[in-house]
Amino acid sequence: MDVIITGSSRGIGFELVKLFAQNNHRVLAISRQTSTLENLKLRNELLYQNLIPLSLDLSSKAFEKLLLEKLDESIFHPSILINNAGLLISKPLNQLNENDFDQMFGVNIKAPFLLIKHLLPYFSPSTHIVNISSMGGFQGSSKFPGLSLYSASKGALAILTECLAEELKDLGIKSNALALGATQTEMLEEAFPGYKAPLSAASMAEFIFNFAISGHQFFNGKVLPVSISTP
Ligand SMILES: NC(=O)c1ccc[n+]([C@@H]2O[C@H](COP(=O)([O-])OP(=O)(O)OC[C@H]3O[C@@H](n4cnc5c(N)ncnc54)[C@H](OP(=O)(O)O)[C@@H]3O)[C@@H](O)[C@H]2O)c1
Repeated sequence: MDVIITGSSRGIGFELVKLFAQNNHRVLAISRQTSTLENLKLRNELLYQNLIPLSLDLSSKAFEKLLLEKLDESIFHPSILINNAGLLISKPLNQLNENDFDQMFGVNIKAPFLLIKHLLPYFSPSTHIVNISSMGGFQGSSKFPGLSLYSASKGALAILTECLAEELKDLGIKSNALALGATQTEMLEEAFPGYKAPLSAASMAEFIFNFAISGHQFFNGKVLPVSISTP
């Protein structure tokens, strides 16, 4: 299968890229930095021959132009899109500014919207769109100081997911969101210094990998909490 994963240079996205590539899927791996992905290929050319790293800033204007060029060049028709790239700027409400808002909403909700819109003609029939949301953006969950705009942007992604299921049902495209709980990554370490999450990036990625492959046979338009802790 052809798979697109955003936020692929580190954390959960990086682990996802490895899993998909190791299981013989062709992976278009998007993030600004691509050195970790290039290193993977260098270390094991055979195992990662289906990995296509693409350096792209999802908050830049008209990023889709570069992406679509790459898809045409590689004759790439994704059956899975994982909108995993995320940006968390943790600040008290009175210190958050417009730029923080634009940056977080740009990466966390505007980029997934633009990606999905522009990828529509490229998707395979029965594509599964998996949007990576957060427990912070899950209605009724515990909330944490400093995470207001981040959580709001992830809440927006959850509602977009529900709407997509309705709008894309005639095309056979399914969309679901996973509201992740704490997972040990650099993002978590920066937001909650010293906190030890119960899950590693690799174990969360394994769950997402299996869900992306078969979850759309059971779920569509659902926002599923994936958490064994608070946060
Ligand atoms: N870790 C947790 O506890 C947790 C909990 C709930 C939800 N989540 C969500 O899970 C997802 C993965 O989180 P993580 O913890 O693995 O985060 P992470 O380690 O901070 O990784 C984030 C990824 O997003 C990419 N990214 C950020 N801004 C980008 C941009 N403008 N353009 C392209 N790529 C960009 C980064 O790559 P570059 O910097 O190279 O661009 C990086 O690969 C995120 O959506 C996050 O919100 C995580």
